[in-house]
Amino acid sequence: MHHTCATILLATTMLMLPACERAGTQANQTDLSDAGWVRVDLESLSAAQATQREQAITARDQLAQTLKGELVSAITSEGPVHAIDVCHTRAPEIAAEVALSNGVQIGRTSHRMRNAENTAPDWMQPVVDEQDPTPHAFADGEGTLAFAYPIILEGACIVCHGSNEQVPAPVREAIDQRYPDDRATGFAPGDLRGWFWVQVPPEN
Ligand code: HEC
Repeated sequence: MHHTCATILLATTMLMLPACERAGTQANQTDLSDAGWVRVDLESLSAAQATQREQAITARDQLAQTLKGELVSAITSEGPVHAIDVCHTRAPEIAAEVALSNGVQIGRTSHRMRNAENTAPDWMQPVVDEQDPTPHAFADGEGTLAFAYPIILEGACIVCHGSNEQVPAPVREAIDQRYPDDRATGFAPGDLRGWFWVQVPPEN
């Protein structure tokens, strides 16, 4: 089941190799300090960093809009059970497309994940732990900036992420089948659902 996601993620990683190499000169780091990521104050970005933030926001908006568009049309045309398949297959594909066309790395993550493959990059772990619903930025010392943008739950998400009463039984079953370790129900509109993360390499 997860082969598609894994393969696509791998493909993305390989395509993004130049960016990875710059970002990861200290390879295989596990914690924030080892990785050399430091927090950046979003209020005092340099001109170059502000340009990177624009790139991050553009990519984030593309991913959000494309995903939501496909989700809504899948629900409208064939219902939420089918839309779970679409989400499973298309979410990583769309992220890979957006990453490639914008020259960034991008994904979604959560403090309560449905698909554990959406694990946050190491630099994001403090944000996930704090469950802070405001944007954050980090720099790696090599010019790469990393951004975390909150995702707030909306009414349209309830059918698949809401309470037990709100998620219809067939949807619940399809989720359990696909994601036995699902932790992503029980959300209400306005709740912090997770984050988009974007890593933007320095301009060449
Ligand atoms: C049709 C059911 C469905 C709807 C509606 C839906 N989602 Fe999801 N959501 C999923 C599935 C399935 C996944 C796992 C995708 C994957 O395999 O990567 C997921 C994953 C996510 C993730 C990634 C983190 C994780 O838990 O794996 C976020 C964030 C998310 N959804 C937010 C939302 C938001 C916000 C909305 C409303 C705009 C929404 N979802 C609507 C089914 C749905």
